[in-house]
Amino acid sequence: MILPIYLYGQPVLRKQAEEIEQTPELKQFIADMYETLTQAEGCGLAAPQVGKPWRLFVVDGTELAEDYPECKDFKRTFINPELLETSEETCTYSEGCLSLPGISENVIRPKSIVIRYLDENFEEHEEEFTGFQARIIQHEYDHLEGHVFTDRISPIRKTFARNKLTAIAKGKVGARYKYKRQ
Ligand code: NI
Repeated sequence: MILPIYLYGQPVLRKQAEEIEQTPELKQFIADMYETLTQAEGCGLAAPQVGKPWRLFVVDGTELAEDYPECKDFKRTFINPELLETSEETCTYSEGCLSLPGISENVIRPKSIVIRYLDENFEEHEEEFTGFQARIIQHEYDHLEGHVFTDRISPIRKTFARNKLTAIAKGKVGARYKYKRQ
């Protein structure tokens, strides 16, 4: 089932998400998140973006493998993730977000990370990611902390983005996928 994506302005996007437990309904919810992500042509989706303040996100970078070879086969579920380490070395990528349609901005973040997480079977992993994989994960992880990527852009770019963000929050801008707004 395709879920509506919550757009900027929805309070759930500013909440600190909570750890979750394995329930019988969770598998279907994760399947719905992947279906929603694919249909919206995104590379990551966090539970708060579909209205659930849960520490869970899914990533699917497989469509980006041509530009970012490290994303080949990069399709994964992260439950109750914990960012353990971030590299001092940073890199810049242009980011966008399904909750912020029409906005893309350069964001500087650590190039590599180490993260501990549970997969969809609640098996624990501790893994290092780098390049665009690390980028997608950090963007989604931010959603669990109540952050969006425009919180991390330069002050001058923030000024430019503010009008667009206000337009989304006021319902003047929509998206090409199913969405929910104020
Ligand atoms: Ni996002």
